[in-house]
This record gives sequence, C-alpha cells and structure tokens, in this order.
Amino acid sequence: MTQEVVIDLKNVSKCFKQYNHPVDRLKEIVWPANTKATEFWALKGINLKLYQGETLGIVGRNGSGKSTLLQVIVGTLTPTTGEVNVNGRISALLELGSGFNPEFTGRQNVFFNGRILGLQKEEIEEKFDAIVSFADIGSFIDQPVKTYSSGMFVRLAFAVAINADPDILVVDEALSVGDEAFQRKCYSKLKSFQDAGKTILFVSHSATSVVEMCNWAILVDSGEILLAGAPKLVVAKYHKLLYSPADKVVQLREEIRNFNGPITSIATAAATETGLKLPELGQKRNDPFYDPNLIPKSTIQYIPRGAEIVNPSITTLEGKRVNHLIRGQEYIYSYRIDFTESAHGVRCGMLIKTISGFELGGAASHTIFQPIDYIPAGTSLNVEFKFLCSLLPGAYFLNNGVLGLVNNEEVYLHRCIDAMMFRVQPEDDLLGTCIVDFQVESNTSVVQSSPRVTA
Ligand SMILES: Nc1ncnc2c1ncn2[C@@H]1O[C@H](COP(=O)(O)OP(=O)(O)OP(=O)(O)O)[C@@H](O)[C@H]1O
Ligand SMILES: [Mg+2]
Repeated sequence: MTQEVVIDLKNVSKCFKQYNHPVDRLKEIVWPANTKATEFWALKGINLKLYQGETLGIVGRNGSGKSTLLQVIVGTLTPTTGEVNVNGRISALLELGSGFNPEFTGRQNVFFNGRILGLQKEEIEEKFDAIVSFADIGSFIDQPVKTYSSGMFVRLAFAVAINADPDILVVDEALSVGDEAFQRKCYSKLKSFQDAGKTILFVSHSATSVVEMCNWAILVDSGEILLAGAPKLVVAKYHKLLYSPADKVVQLREEIRNFNGPITSIATAAATETGLKLPELGQKRNDPFYDPNLIPKSTIQYIPRGAEIVNPSITTLEGKRVNHLIRGQEYIYSYRIDFTESAHGVRCGMLIKTISGFELGGAASHTIFQPIDYIPAGTSLNVEFKFLCSLLPGAYFLNNGVLGLVNNEEVYLHRCIDAMMFRVQPEDDLLGTCIVDFQVESNTSVVQSSPRVTA
C-alpha cells in the first residue's frame, strides 16, 4: 500500500520584522525606505514530509519556532520563502486564544470558530450538541469566553477542533491546560483519530505524551529541524539541550545536528532508532542473572556540571551484581557521583522506563526542601536506591541524575538517560498482564444457579 503524503514542506522559511519601538512600525508605512525593522528568521529552510496516518511530535525550547511552523502548515501565516502543500481538511488547536472572539459567547464562538475550520453553518448545527457535550462546561456556553478560565477555554476549543472531522489535526501544547480527566478524554479521542488513519501534529513539552502518542518526532531549534527520529531519541536529545549549560549549547546543537543528517519523514526516521538490540533470549550465559551484553544502545549523557555519575549497577540485597531480575524480589540500584566542583542543594534520582520510553516510576534521594546542603569538590557520593521489582517479565531501562543549585536554580549537575537496562525473568504460568505487578489475587466461585434456570 502506498501511503499518501498529506503535508509537504519544501525549504520553508519565515521572516518576521521586529521593531524596537511600536512607532517604528507606523513610520515604515509612511517611509518604507527608512525602515528601522530588523529581520528575524523564525523558520529556516524547513523540509518536512508527513504521510497519512502518522502522528508527528514536535519538541523544542521556548521560542524555537514550533508554533510558527504549525501556523505555516495551518495557513494562518504565509511562509516568506518555500512551498507548503497540505492535502486534506486541517483542524487546529493553536495557542490559547486564536480562532476565538473573547466578546462572543461560547455558543457564538462554536459557530465562529467552526466556520474558520471550514464547516458550513448546517454542519456546525448538526455537530453542536456533540461539541457542547464534549466540552462539558455547563451553562458557561452562553457566557462570553472572556469570562472563561483557561481550562474551560481549551475544553471548548478542543471540542470544536475535534468535532470538525478533520483529516489532519494540529494541536499546539494546549492539552496541558485542562484537568487530568479532560486530558484523558482528549488523549483517548486522539487515539481514536489515529485508529481512523488520520494524521496528527502535536507540539508538546511532555516527554511521556510524545513518546506514547507519536510515531516519530522532530526537535526544532532556532527555526531549524535539528533532529528527526524515534520519539524516545528525539525527546532525550531535546532534554539534553534544554538542561545543558549556556556555554555548551552551540557545541551541543552541532552535535545533535550531525547526529544523523537531515531526516524528513518517518521512513528515514526509522533509521535513527537507537536500536535496542537485545541479546537473543536463548543465548547461553555463565550467570543466569547477569548478562554482560545487556547494555542499552540508547544511552545519552548530559554534559557534566561539576559532577559525574559513574558505575551504575543493580545488585541483590546480598551484593551480587544482576541485570536479570525476578518479579517480587528486592534489589538495590546504585551509582557513585564524583564531584569535581563543590555543590549545594544536592539531590539524586532514579527512574525506570519501558522500551518505548514510558516513565514508570522512580524516586529522589531527598525532597526539594531538605537536599544535601553541601558537598566539597574532590569528594564522591555513593547513592543507593532499594526497590521492589513490581514489574512483569520484559525489558526495562534506568535513568539516573543528580541535581544541585546553580545561581539559586535547581539544575541537573549530571544526568544519564538509559544508563542501564535490565530484564525481568520470564515465568511459566504467569497470570499477570501488561507491565506492573499489582500482586493481584483472583478468586472465582460457582454460585448456585438461579431458580428460574431449568437444567
Ligand atoms: N508575529 C511575530 N513577529 C515577530 N516575531 C515573532 C512573531 N511570532 C513569533 N515571533 C518570534 O519567532 C520565534 C519563534 O516563535 P514561536 O512562537 O514559533 O516559538 P515556539 O517554539 O512556539 O515557543 P513556545 O515554546 O514558547 O511556544 C520567537 O523568537 C518569537 O519571538
Ligand atoms: Mg509555541
């Protein structure tokens, strides 16, 4: 089956004119030759191809160009150069406020926004009840939207966008505003969209959402696509960039850019998958509980800021090194931190994730209110986390990290994504399903048949 290209951007750039004083903008209208505007390229040479049915995650630092990219695709901004081709009806949930008139009531805005999304009045009338029921904002539907909380606003905007029955849905970071129950409802709606073979573009700062929802992802930085690939990889590189010290950003950008060359669609993105090549299950080992080859291929180290995490390992309570764990037993995850500079407000952490990068759970060594006050340069810290293996058979990955205060702000002094991996041993006759072992005990009993049932 050949998939249809639904979004195709060729060498797209967007230049904004920026003015130091608002009056300079007016002067330019009168004396265009005397412009005081400076050019700002928010997008630079973007090439992007999206096939029908794909869900693309877009991540990047604030001001990197994500919303501009979405607006160019949706058509609310025209690119300065390049070509944008969109094939299908597109519906967008852009940043809060766009497409809504604050003076209109919710009801009026449903019609106003529906028309912007390309629906006829009759179509909106037909969908109105479904929209109002999805938004679930009660009598506020007849109040001006300027009186809405941001949560109510996003409920209505999402309800309209999703009920416009688009082929392509564009969501810009909006879902984080709603409460959890509403977010869950939106995600399940997005899932049914995916199941129906629709295409989704999704800007989010939530690593878990991108990893869970998207087939592939791009990292946008300074108006460029720095990296495209498997969501887990892209999110990890994005976090590395986000938490890197300011003087290392330029070097890191280059490193990420050169990581795998330009990639413009999922077909090539697949090639950047970090290849979690697990050793053959049946392979013979001397120690059934420790396999030296069980090493993640996706490890990403943050740039150390005066501290470095070394020697991560899992041991049994008796101190035997393992990476094949048994469900229901206790283990110790440990590492050492070498401090090359003195540190204040230190806290250490661990996190366990699935193969797809879904963050299952972890812990910090200290609360944010009671960190380790001070660690002098030249010392090391041994960190141990005892945990119960409440996981069902499968492969899992471990992150570690150490936080400290720099200029009164808590930052990662060092962090390692996918520092190590482990397996939970397969079991015969296992009744538990999925990931977490809730220690479920089932009990079934036959009850006496009802008198109405004849044998
Ligand atoms: N209309 C405009 N005029 C001038 N500059 C603009 C305009 N719109 C956006 N920009 C600039 O373009 C850059 C990219 O903005 P954009 O809103 O696309 O970033 P973003 O990645 O969505 O950021 P965020 O994560 O904060 O939402 C920013 O530096 C912003 O200041
Ligand atoms: Mg934005």
